[in-house]
Amino acid sequence: MKSIFDKVIDRRGSGAIKTDVLKERFGDEDLIPLWVADMDFKTPDCIADALKERLEHQIYGYSIPKESYWESIINWENSIHGWEFTREELTFIPGIVRGIGFVIQCFTKPGDKIVIQPPVYMPFIHLPQNNDRELIYNPLIYNRGVYEMDFNQLEECMEQNPKLLILSNPHNPAGRIWGEKTLARLAEICARHGVLVISDEIHADMALYDKVHVPFAMASEIAADISITFAAPTKTFNMAGLVSSFAVVHNKEIRDKFFKYLNDNELNAPTFISAIATEAAFTKGDKWRKNMLKYVQKNVDYVYDFLSVNIPKIFVVKPDASFLVWINCNRLELSHEKLIDLFVNKAHLALNDGEDFGHGGEGFMRMNVGCPRSILEKAMNQLVNAYHTYYENVE
Ligand SMILES: Cc1ncc(COP(=O)(O)O)c(C=O)c1O
Repeated sequence: MKSIFDKVIDRRGSGAIKTDVLKERFGDEDLIPLWVADMDFKTPDCIADALKERLEHQIYGYSIPKESYWESIINWENSIHGWEFTREELTFIPGIVRGIGFVIQCFTKPGDKIVIQPPVYMPFIHLPQNNDRELIYNPLIYNRGVYEMDFNQLEECMEQNPKLLILSNPHNPAGRIWGEKTLARLAEICARHGVLVISDEIHADMALYDKVHVPFAMASEIAADISITFAAPTKTFNMAGLVSSFAVVHNKEIRDKFFKYLNDNELNAPTFISAIATEAAFTKGDKWRKNMLKYVQKNVDYVYDFLSVNIPKIFVVKPDASFLVWINCNRLELSHEKLIDLFVNKAHLALNDGEDFGHGGEGFMRMNVGCPRSILEKAMNQLVNAYHTYYENVE
């Protein structure tokens, strides 16, 4: 039986970054786009219907979110993750990447040091750099397809007196869900050195394979006390273009400072579009989310199985969460230039280049499997054919 997620929808010309900047980014617009982290599935009807109903009113003036918007976030986090917080600990933020920038500007000064754990989502590298902060790297350890944190090296990083650590929880690009003990240990080290932690939990609602996401603030009392958590419905419900995220801060001192910064600069007010879409997602979207995750998990399995049979030298790191798949191509023994040539020029695929994720990303590619299976099958066949035709016997 066909699934709603099997439907192929042409996004070209809709302003989608994924399709409409291929030429600019990859030099060719005739590529299967498996890069930017949004999905090629229709945003659920419950969200579209709520937006349509409001748009029918046709006065789009200044608006304030209803109480039910805030309640929907509180109830969602409680029911999905067992995480409890109050209305006063919660604020809207206009996008998580911007939120990270706000924290950098509010809590650190130019020249201050910020710890990140590469390979990691590119803005974690760019935002500190763009704001003239200095990066300190605590690279993740890759061991046979599993990433772990390097706490010994983190202790060394702390000697340089960083002010902030930015955590991807779950981890992008590898999709790793961090365990409670790992998060608690990270929190203990950061607390001992007076380091504030941003926990970016945008992928939190997309756990696969019966894994369980642990909100950083639930890992320990210390973690709750030293952190700002960002989350959003935008990835899970495929509505990133609507821009709707939120922050939760348990510690009063940190919260007062951050919320004042947001308020003083009017950065904490959702558009009515964001509030309505978020409330619809969190009150009516759970069935869609579960079905989407089943479909995505089958896509991950498909890619894993297909590549292990057809190009066994490529190893697929199975994500614990989300629709991004991190693939290790190092055993192909191709230079960076040739690896990109294989994917882009020969296989006609647009993936994210692992090198963009910083240290440890060399020889990896990030593939987005949030698309109809037929597209993925086409992409995998193009990759295998290109590999066998051009690269299998390259010295
Ligand atoms: C870890 C992580 N944080 C943040 C974002 C983007 O968040 P936003 O669109 O709210 O800025 C992404 C998108 O890929 C992501 O993977």
